[in-house]
Amino acid sequence: MAAKGKKYTHKVFILVPSRLFFVAAAQALKRAVTESERLKPSEDLREVQSTELIIGSIRFFHPLILTQDAAPTPSFSELISNEMDEVDRVISRRLSSEVPLVGEVAKYIISAGGKRIRPALLLLLSGALSYTARQKYEMAAVVEFIHTATLLHDDVVDDSTLRRGRATANVSFGNPASVLVGDFLYSRAFQMMVDCDNMRVMQVLANATNVIAEGEVQQLMNMHDASLTEAGYLEVIRSKTAKLFEASARIPAILAKASPDIEQACAEFGLALGTAFQVIDDVLDYEGESSVLGKNLGDDLREGKTTLPLIFAMQNCSPEEKTLIRNAIEHNEEVNLAPILSILQKTGAMQATKEVAHQQALLAIKAIAPLKDSIYKTVLTQLASQLLLRST
Ligand code: IPE
Ligand code: IPE
Ligand code: MG
Ligand code: MG
Ligand code: MG
Repeated sequence: MAAKGKKYTHKVFILVPSRLFFVAAAQALKRAVTESERLKPSEDLREVQSTELIIGSIRFFHPLILTQDAAPTPSFSELISNEMDEVDRVISRRLSSEVPLVGEVAKYIISAGGKRIRPALLLLLSGALSYTARQKYEMAAVVEFIHTATLLHDDVVDDSTLRRGRATANVSFGNPASVLVGDFLYSRAFQMMVDCDNMRVMQVLANATNVIAEGEVQQLMNMHDASLTEAGYLEVIRSKTAKLFEASARIPAILAKASPDIEQACAEFGLALGTAFQVIDDVLDYEGESSVLGKNLGDDLREGKTTLPLIFAMQNCSPEEKTLIRNAIEHNEEVNLAPILSILQKTGAMQATKEVAHQQALLAIKAIAPLKDSIYKTVLTQLASQLLLRST
């Protein structure tokens, strides 16, 4: 559809008088503003998005503007849906094991879906860097396996009971099975990356996996610590979550043999996007909709985790309210979420937390500026802003 639209656009452009060009530019401007209004990001981010859309539209005479039959910019899942099917095929093939319980537990969590955001990132950046070899499907499956392994372990550590809208694997199969199948997925991912036979890719993934584990241990040490700072919080989430986003974004640059600058741009995009992603996850833990999120709300406070909403609330509340929050973090009591939620709202802590995510999304968008313009780059930019508004 896009290719057809583009061809048509070129024909139309040769024929149209210059007035139509200005009408088209005005339409592009209106569309960009409408789109950014819909997304409601911060002023800064709005400016970047609008500029991106306007520049993109005018420079390339985007099919949206000049043709009747062209489709709007596809979402990231539309753009790579066939490729994601390839990744799913690799995932199914690589899950094979002689031991029935391995397949049973792994399929239980994988068949429940998930957003597949990390493999999507790897494929979108492969597209942006014009890397087409099938190796990318293997690597996309590798990052999803590492992610799934962390989830199996995470739900044991966090004592969680709901994941992807169903009982967690630890509830359905027990803690030992979850931990051991998590180990199977980690080690299967390592077998696959060795098959890739690229030392730099192996270094990046080995390093990311190690840093994730460090981040989880650091978080364990920070448990019940109500004096955790914003910097301390950010350090943990960069390790436990953003590092795998960074690896997923860096790998296509390595495979595509991109220049060091472009590889750095991709890595920075992934790190900032992953940071924004976890900040929003921590917002959703308080104000998400459990049935949409597929997870229970309030898990973080129940576990005594000092996440950014609580850090900001404690900076702006009354001494009595601060004592209430401190007690909730420090003691393993049944926490009454309602009064805490009202302090989070009243102090503007939720809004301030979302603003941190906005700033990270903005950093991500700026980071990929050096990549050459393409539909993939446009969709990656959209993805950064859409993740701020996610509810799942
Ligand atoms: C959940 O990750 C763990 C975090 C890093 C917040 P996702 O939100 O990507 O989980 P799925 O794969 O979509 O279920
Ligand atoms: C997820 O953090 C980090 C990893 C999976 C390593 P959370 O514990 O907040 O993730 P959810 O909310 O359980 O998905
Ligand atoms: Mg968890
Ligand atoms: Mg956790
Ligand atoms: Mg969470």
